[in-house]
Order: sequence, then structure tokens, then C-alpha cells
Amino acid sequence: MDIKINAYAKINLKLKVLGDLPGGYHELYNHMQAVGLCDRVYIDYHDMGAVSAKEAEGYRPRVILHPGKPYLPRDERNLAWKAAELMHRRFHPDRREKFFISVEKNIPVAAGLAGGSADGAAVLTGLARLWGLIPGYGEGPETANADQPGAEVSAADRSEAAAGSPERPSLQQLEPLIELAKELGSDVPFSLLAQNGYPAAVGTGRGTELELVTSESYKVLIYTPNFPLSTKAVYGELKDGDASEFNDLEPPAKRLSPEIEAVMELMKGIGTPLRTQLSGSGPSVFNLYSNKGPCPSLKEVKAALANREGNIYLGETLE
Ligand code: C5P
Repeated sequence: MDIKINAYAKINLKLKVLGDLPGGYHELYNHMQAVGLCDRVYIDYHDMGAVSAKEAEGYRPRVILHPGKPYLPRDERNLAWKAAELMHRRFHPDRREKFFISVEKNIPVAAGLAGGSADGAAVLTGLARLWGLIPGYGEGPETANADQPGAEVSAADRSEAAAGSPERPSLQQLEPLIELAKELGSDVPFSLLAQNGYPAAVGTGRGTELELVTSESYKVLIYTPNFPLSTKAVYGELKDGDASEFNDLEPPAKRLSPEIEAVMELMKGIGTPLRTQLSGSGPSVFNLYSNKGPCPSLKEVKAALANREGNIYLGETLE
């Protein structure tokens, strides 16, 4: 059985650090919004029968991961790999299973866009759909079980699937998956919601206690400079009194990478943005534009950034 999931990136419309939490974490008010930029995560799942009594102790499923970039880990250090193991342990501990996972990586890595979290969440979502735990909201025809005998998909079924399932899972159905997502990382629960038809939320506590909010409709330009910034390092650099109108992580991120200041100044001059912000712990910087007004062209953006290296995304928030 195979399935494809769109794993959306997020931007932080507002990120306020409210205090310290145990375990080196920080208490947040974190307004997250998904955007159209996404990785595509393909899962090919094989059930090979029940685990024998002999095998039962210490059995681990086979996970074969192509992470999409040569420098990304292909083992348990990758959230997509971890997610498959978690799903096996939680829902199918007595099955012999093989997971082939392949990621088409479009979201820049270590960029403040929750790309790794999105891939981990996509494995939770994909397996939950394959196992019938949640409906396949927004699924396309690629999700047809082509390798299952007798699972021939009719033309009518195909066109219905192509239109996407109108039914999104309820929050109650997603709850067990959200619990697993929390084990993977602070941004993973939101990524899971975004993949299942809930593209905006405010996270409190560690950022994982989610309250849905109405999605805000903007045109978006995201520029990710060519240097990574570690989330842990940025939080580690945070000092008392660090604050910014939209994202309190801006001061520590700028201290670690002074280049961000220059990037933000350049970004402010591209078209007439409503505002220019750092996303998460950076180094991605984004501009929001009115969804009714003009948006700069790729050519204009490249010229304004003086052909700096990095990744440019021009698109929209997800609704
Ligand atoms: O939860 P996750 O593993 O994604 O977090 C990565 C790092 O980001 C943590 O180790 C911590 O340093 C920092 N963090 C934090 N407070 C949060 C979320 C993350 O300090 N609420």
C-alpha cells in the first residue's frame, strides 16, 4: 500500500517567549500559519504478517528512508524514521512491517520553517490514513492501493479522489496522533494539523497545546539565506528582555547571525510588504502582502536580493 502526503511549511505570525520551562524549554505564545510550500512524503507500507513468538522481544520494523538530500540522516535521527517506529509501537506492535519512505525535499533545512517536523508529521498522517485511523482529507489519486490484488480503482473512484476527500478528521480523531507528535518535537503537532485541514493555530506551553484560529490569507515571500541556524542555539542565546514586535527570537538570532539584519532590511524594500519578519528561530525571513494587491515577481526578488544565494518561495498562506 502506498500513499503521498503534502508536508507543509509553517511561518510564525507571532512568537512570544513567556518564560522558562523544565528541560531547557521555553513557554511560548506561538501563532503558526501553514503556507503552500511543501515537501512531498511518499510511504510504501508492507505488512508481512504477525510477529512470531520467537521474534516478539526486541522486534523492530524495517524502515528504509530516502530523506531527499544527501546531508540529511537516513536513520533514527530523522523525524520521519522515528515517526514510523512510533506508529508501529503504538498501533501495530504485533505486526512484521516494512516502511519505505521517500521525501521530495522542497522546504529548506534548519531554516525556521518546520521542514523536518512536517516530514515527521507526514509519516504519522500517512500511516494513520493507510491504517484507516483517520479519513484521507485532500488525498489525490496517488493514494490508490495499486499493489493490492482486487483493489482496482474505478474511474469514478479516481475522480472523487482527485477532487480530495471533503471530510477532514475531527480533532478527537487526531488526538492520539497529536500525542505521538509531541514526542517527536515541539512543532510536529502543528504540522500534523496543517496536513489534515487545519492550517492555523496558536500553540502555548512548549508550543504543543494547540488552539485552532482562523487562517489569515496573505501572499507570502520567504527568503532563506544559505546558512543554517540551530533552534537550540537560538533559544540558548535568548537573554532577559529580548523582545520584538512579532518574534522574540529575532534578537538572539541576529546576535548569532548578524547577516539577518541586512537580509531583513533588503526584504523590507521588496514591493510594499505589510510586514517583514523572522520565521521561528530563523534564518528564514518572510514578507506578507495583501492577498488583493500585487506581489513582486521572482525576477524583482532576485534583483532586490542582489543575487544572494539561498532559497526563495513566492506563494500564499494555506486556507
Ligand atoms: O522540541 P524540539 O526538539 O523541536 O526543540 C528543539 C530545541 O528548541 C529544544 O531543545 C530547545 O532548546 C528549544 N525549544 C525551547 N522551547 C520550546 C521549544 C523548543 O527552548 N518551547
